[in-house]
Amino acid sequence: MSILVTGGAGYIGSHTCVKLIENGYDIVVVDDLSNSHIKAIERVKELAGKDFPFYEFDVCDGNKLDELFTKHDIGCVIHFAGFKAVGESVEKPLEYYSNNLKTTMTLCRVMKRHNVNKFIFSSSATVYKPGSQMPVSEDAELGCTNPYGWSKLICERILTDIAYADDTWSVVLLRYFNPIGAHESGKIGEDPAGIPNNLVPYITQTALGRLEKLSVFGNDYDTHDGTGVRDYIHVQDLAQGHVDAIRYADENKGAIAINLGTGIGYSVLDIVNAFEKVNGVKVPYVIAPRREGDVATVYANANKAKELLGWEAKKNLEDMCRDSWRWQKQNPKGYAGE
Ligand code: UFG
Repeated sequence: MSILVTGGAGYIGSHTCVKLIENGYDIVVVDDLSNSHIKAIERVKELAGKDFPFYEFDVCDGNKLDELFTKHDIGCVIHFAGFKAVGESVEKPLEYYSNNLKTTMTLCRVMKRHNVNKFIFSSSATVYKPGSQMPVSEDAELGCTNPYGWSKLICERILTDIAYADDTWSVVLLRYFNPIGAHESGKIGEDPAGIPNNLVPYITQTALGRLEKLSVFGNDYDTHDGTGVRDYIHVQDLAQGHVDAIRYADENKGAIAINLGTGIGYSVLDIVNAFEKVNGVKVPYVIAPRREGDVATVYANANKAKELLGWEAKKNLEDMCRDSWRWQKQNPKGYAGE
């Protein structure tokens, strides 16, 4: 039996593919490469030392998915494919809802037709209502501030209802906090299109000189140094969380939401300082106004992942800063190269 990985050429998907193969799983990957690069797939094969079937198509295409499920013996689906830019989702809500809901529902429909009933979903800490008590647990109140977040939350609801209606289903909703870092080899990593929205890719491109300086969005938050605090988690730890979630889904029915975070909050300036120290490089920055929609502090209560999955983040901030920089230095222009 194989694990179907949708969005396997993306940042979290590619790292998870390597981990799955290292853990003895056979994988089949589908990705339409709309926001990722074929090189990521080549590098995954190189790192894992193993070939696997790769299909380039949009997961909204039910006919192609149907063919894939007919051809391969799929036992479980990990669904990463989706639109993920918060700001863009505010401008293009219809595209976000159409794509993120349709991929999930099409997958479920085809899975039902082929009697596949294990689903690991790529969700986000963004589903927690702003203003929640920190550290935030899975039973906190839910609610979002942008269409991207709502699309994740609605998919969580759809999957939970499917698992309720059919008690053979196992659904694990993994709520990621802030993934950073890269594979220790520097061969795969985060490769955002255009100017990065997220903090760490912005830092690595600034350190490289591709961007002039980082804007630190606000230094008047109620945090230890006034800058925003988040729960940064190494992408390799996150990848391991998916392997552990498959084992859980093999043994348990129903739907469950699980945080994948470290439980530790670092501020923007903590990250900048650690990055400069660990890598011996400068990250020029200026203090800028707060970014709309940001909150002061978000970090996880990660107890449930430990109890149920036996999972715990192992990498620290130095590892994350070192690995992010290695990837960026080795791939200054990302997968596309020159
Ligand atoms: N920040 C800056 N300058 C930048 C970019 C970010 O100061 O150029 C700050 C932000 O204000 C925030 C922190 O760095 O305090 C982290 O920002 P990111 O954009 O890296 O991450 P977010 O926490 O805003 O968003 C992440 C994911 C989203 C997800 C969200 C929910 O990128 O997909 O977490 O928890 F929805």
